[in-house]
Amino acid sequence: MLVDALGRPLRDLRISVTDRCNFRCTYCMPRDVFDHDYEFLPRAELLTFEELTRLVRIFVGLGVRKVRITGGEPLLRRGLERLVADLAAIDGVDDLTLTTNGSLLARRARSLAAAGLHRVTVSLDALDDEVFRSMNDADFPVADVLEAIAVADAAGLRPVKINAVVARGVNDQEILPLADYFRHTGHVLRFIEFMDVGTANGWDPSAVVTAREIVETIDARWPLEPVDPAYRGEVARRWRYRDGAGEIGVIASVTEPFCGDCTRLRLSAEGRLYTCLFATEGLDLRGPLRGGADDDELAALVAGRWRRRTDRYSERRREVPLDLPKIEMSYIGG
Ligand code: GTP
Ligand code: 5AD
Ligand code: SF4
Ligand code: SF4
Repeated sequence: MLVDALGRPLRDLRISVTDRCNFRCTYCMPRDVFDHDYEFLPRAELLTFEELTRLVRIFVGLGVRKVRITGGEPLLRRGLERLVADLAAIDGVDDLTLTTNGSLLARRARSLAAAGLHRVTVSLDALDDEVFRSMNDADFPVADVLEAIAVADAAGLRPVKINAVVARGVNDQEILPLADYFRHTGHVLRFIEFMDVGTANGWDPSAVVTAREIVETIDARWPLEPVDPAYRGEVARRWRYRDGAGEIGVIASVTEPFCGDCTRLRLSAEGRLYTCLFATEGLDLRGPLRGGADDDELAALVAGRWRRRTDRYSERRREVPLDLPKIEMSYIGG
């Protein structure tokens, strides 16, 4: 079995299919950085669906079982259903899912499900329309995202998971309303600690609302009990309502890092491979891919990179300089 330098196997692949997004979430793509002059990847530099499918087959041969499609906003990539169908057909892809902001999901959920997508995760940081519009900074209404979640569930893309990033003074007052809304729905709401991904979002440790605070806030209103992880290395810590209203999760990358079990590999839209969300450098696969490398050569490149992997950024956060040239969330997809 392929393991990295710290004994961690390769299990999950996250593929970014575009670095563009129709939102400008203040914690991810602040408008003053991602403005009219910002240079997104030109189309010719993106991996084609054929190239992606070939790479995923190779990754599956190295141990990958779970594939997540991300962006930017992945539904901006035209004809994504075609990629979904090709990936769903690969033997060994046991879990095929997509992370989206939900803005284009209502009209695509059925075709995505028909293409073979298993489930979706929708980002939603507030239930209050004004707070939501100011956080996405695109004046997008919350009602449309809530509608998309219902449509996705009805299309069978379930359980729908909801990701809410919590930033102090921005949306911490939304924790209880979000929890209340998703109780009894069967959807799994997960709160994410605001992370220092990239360099654009002006992250500050004081803006982090800790997973512990979040759990205590909800537990005081609706008592919670812990649930065992579904598998080793699960990113979210699971909790269930004692009254049977369902389950929530917290993703505590800042206060309770989970690098020890990190089995994730990330591929950017232009075909660079990253062994950590907080990496500064990726391994170019598009060059060899377009230069005529065969499958064995590509597999050897990836395996070699994984074997040398020592990343554990979140566990070392305090020792790492703050001004590292880290990749942006919109480039690597979370
Ligand atoms: P499922 O629970 O199986 O749906 O997968 P998941 O939790 O990996 O899904 P998702 O993409 O929704 O992950 C939620 C968020 O957790 C991501 O968007 C990131 O913000 C964060 N996250 C996921 N993986 C990592 C990781 O390896 N390191 C860090 N620091 N954060 C991560
Ligand atoms: N910290 C935590 N989560 C973030 N996301 C984007 N930027 C950050 C950040 N700085 C979340 C998005 C989405 C997922 C891909 O990552 O809200 O749910
Ligand atoms: Fe917001 Fe996701 Fe777009 Fe970033 S990629 S701006 S988190 S919707
Ligand atoms: Fe994995 Fe890097 Fe996240 Fe740690 S910080 S869990 S090594 S992606």
